[in-house]
Amino acid sequence: MAKLLGEKGLNIVGKETNGKSDEQLIKIIAEGAGKMPAQKSLSKEEQKQALGHVRSLAK
Ligand code: HEM
Repeated sequence: MAKLLGEKGLNIVGKETNGKSDEQLIKIIAEGAGKMPAQKSLSKEEQKQALGHVRSLAK
């Protein structure tokens, strides 16, 4: 799993992700980052909805 999820591990519901701005996270969702692939099929509206979902999961 470390190979797929990256060296840092993956926790998008924790403090580190929650501390990032909407702008930063939308950029990651749209363009990818590290081992995360860009989600190219999402419209701008869908990117915002996906971010809303991620935010709703934050602990
Ligand atoms: C709509 C679908 C997706 C959403 C909304 C989403 C959301 C996110 C967000 C918000 C982050 C940033 C976490 C942070 O920097 O604190 C992230 C990172 C990451 N995601 Fe996704 N993701 C999606 C699809 C995927 C897929 C399909 C994969 C793997 C095949 C993936 C793998 C990763 C990895 C490995 C990271 C860590 C990137 C790094 O090294 O910084 N994600 N994701």
